[in-house]
Amino acid sequence: MPRKIMVAGNWKMRNTVEESVALASQIAQGLTRRDLEVLLCPGFLALEPVALSLSNGPVLVGGQNLYWQDQGAYTGEVSGPQLKAAGASHVLVAHSERRQHFGESEKTAALRVQAALRAGLRPLLCVGETQAERQADQTQGVLESQLSGALAGLAASACDRLILAYEPVWAIGTGLTATDQQANDAHAFIRAWLAGRFDKAVANSVRILYGGSVKPANAAGILNQPEVDGVLVGGASLSAQSFLAIIQAA
Ligand code: PGA
Repeated sequence: MPRKIMVAGNWKMRNTVEESVALASQIAQGLTRRDLEVLLCPGFLALEPVALSLSNGPVLVGGQNLYWQDQGAYTGEVSGPQLKAAGASHVLVAHSERRQHFGESEKTAALRVQAALRAGLRPLLCVGETQAERQADQTQGVLESQLSGALAGLAASACDRLILAYEPVWAIGTGLTATDQQANDAHAFIRAWLAGRFDKAVANSVRILYGGSVKPANAAGILNQPEVDGVLVGGASLSAQSFLAIIQAA
């Protein structure tokens, strides 16, 4: 079965609840494609209002993070069951900004992946190397250790709910984009790793999105790569016009 393209928007810590609902509705109204999945990841406060405003429509809603305990005395955290009850179907895990600013590790990424699956959410696990790591020719080693750490203990049967995002840290919010070839090569490496860690069926079915300064002008080139199954968009997902243009490019 061909892998269904996903276009996901990560709004990060931007937009009030009102702005989020308005943006989501502009995107939903402008969406004409039904052959791909569109996911919006608003801030926590806006998640439920956005999900309610989109209900009955094709646009999916996801969290940007989750804590790995299902409930308890964890002040300030949000759990998988809470996200699910608020209308989320997906959740980002270990975005590079979480790794960079909040000290997240492979170990906590693994706990979050498990927690998401337990809650019936689809984890969208982010991996990617820094500029220094790429320059030192360590990209593959970094991807390997991030993947093996975050997917430790995961059964092949759980992989039908897993989505990966290759997001080179040097391309996020910088205006620098991996070339189409660099993106495809990294995705091919990740897919080969999946085949070794799980099996060929898993490798062929898990979607791998590309993220890092995707915009209307470069989306088609990236999305045309055979190993690229979609995009995770930050800055360009904050305007309905540019996000819809990226969707049109798929
Ligand atoms: P960007 O962010 O598109 O603004 O580079 C991508 C991301 O952080 O997922």
